[in-house]
Amino acid sequence: MTQVESKTTSNDTPFVPIEKIVALCKRRGFVYPNSEIYGGVSGIYDFGPLGVELRNNIRRYWWWSMVQLHDNVVGIEGAIITHPKVWEASGHVENFVDRLVDCKNCKRRFRIDHLPEENVLQNKCPACGGELTEPRRFNLLMETYLGVVEGERMKTYLRGEACQNIYLDYDNVVKSSRVQIPFGICQIGKAFRNEVTPGNFLFRQREFEQWDLQFFVHPSEMQQWFDFWKEKRFEWYMGLLNHKDRLHFREHGKDELAHYAKQAFDIEYQTILGWQEWEGIHWRQDWDLSRHGEYSGHDLSYSDPITKERYIPWIVETSGGVDRTFLNLLLDAYEEEPDPSGKEARTVLRLHPTIAPVKVAVLPLQKNKEELVSTAKSIHHTLRRLMVTQYDDVANIGRRYRRQDEIGTPYCVTIDFQTLDDQTVTLRERDSMAQIRLPIAELPMYLLERITWR
Ligand code: GAP
Repeated sequence: MTQVESKTTSNDTPFVPIEKIVALCKRRGFVYPNSEIYGGVSGIYDFGPLGVELRNNIRRYWWWSMVQLHDNVVGIEGAIITHPKVWEASGHVENFVDRLVDCKNCKRRFRIDHLPEENVLQNKCPACGGELTEPRRFNLLMETYLGVVEGERMKTYLRGEACQNIYLDYDNVVKSSRVQIPFGICQIGKAFRNEVTPGNFLFRQREFEQWDLQFFVHPSEMQQWFDFWKEKRFEWYMGLLNHKDRLHFREHGKDELAHYAKQAFDIEYQTILGWQEWEGIHWRQDWDLSRHGEYSGHDLSYSDPITKERYIPWIVETSGGVDRTFLNLLLDAYEEEPDPSGKEARTVLRLHPTIAPVKVAVLPLQKNKEELVSTAKSIHHTLRRLMVTQYDDVANIGRRYRRQDEIGTPYCVTIDFQTLDDQTVTLRERDSMAQIRLPIAELPMYLLERITWR
């Protein structure tokens, strides 16, 4: 058996309803509503045992491809709370606003920039046709307070975009790690936004996680690095997808550019929600370092060690969401496959083996045969040191395969009576359901070769 390549499907395949993913996530322990026993908090979620494995794999894969594979990229991990002036300098206190309207009739709330143009022009609710209120402006930054004594407490913000730490630490990184322009700094971290309309599960949350690369360049090389990272990020997502025709670039119109961006492209993915942003590639130019230099009084210019030229570096940003990646990959991977025998459909998550939460399940054919169980446990104990492994001896083998298909486990190993004779096992592959026999001694290497990113 050879490893099955990611399957490419066309746009004819129907889109998966978000509700199916929400139900699977709850049922199998990927994602739970936060504070559910108190009624939950809209736009905030917790990740369960499988969710945390998937999330960690997604993060590690990003870090490996962005930091480990690039000699001119380093990583940091900044704090969620920063000095309040950071958010004045960044422009968020003034500009990080959404305009919203309420329907006077059905009381629904909408962001103006999400309404169809005709509804804005006619001041008409898209849901019920009722009259809309005057637009109101809301700042998305989440406030918090430092200090204990009333009156002396300092108001600040939970970071509204994770990347600000990178600008704050830029000078320290230059001085402490001998990087030279062009170079990049990466970070993965939580961000917080008082979204006016949180919703669609993990798509728009109030607490979420972002991954950022800020790549510092000489202004004359901006275009070349912008194009380089734009392509690299597109390829990265492509490599994980089954539905490759559902990914494209969309350039921002001049009227929708963020306050810091001179040019921007979104990598968009098409789901049941339509084409939606997955990651932004932003031409931030010298906005961030100039503003922080101005507001802090700290000189953030760069001195070229060879030419001695001094200048404010320009920045290419690639900024995506860990949670949006989590959701999009589940939407992309989920499939209900009709059973040829006419029984229950097979639900399968065709996740890329490198990011699947469990890599292999070890299954004794019968749980009441001591020799099968002890051999299976011994294989499980060997494999779990190398990869996330599940041991399962409950229910018939067909059911156990289905349980693993539903959570995206790429391989199942079955220990049967032949194993006791010749030390081989059955190895079943998730997507094709093809089975081969393999010597126990070859299992670790066989699996590692297929689950490790390269
Ligand atoms: N530093 C640039 C920046 O923050 P952004 O387009 O606002 O840009 C980057 O956010 C990415 O973060 C988005 O492409 C999306 O994947 C993710 N993201 C933004 N807001 C989100 C939210 N409310 N919930 C989940 N993910 C979000």
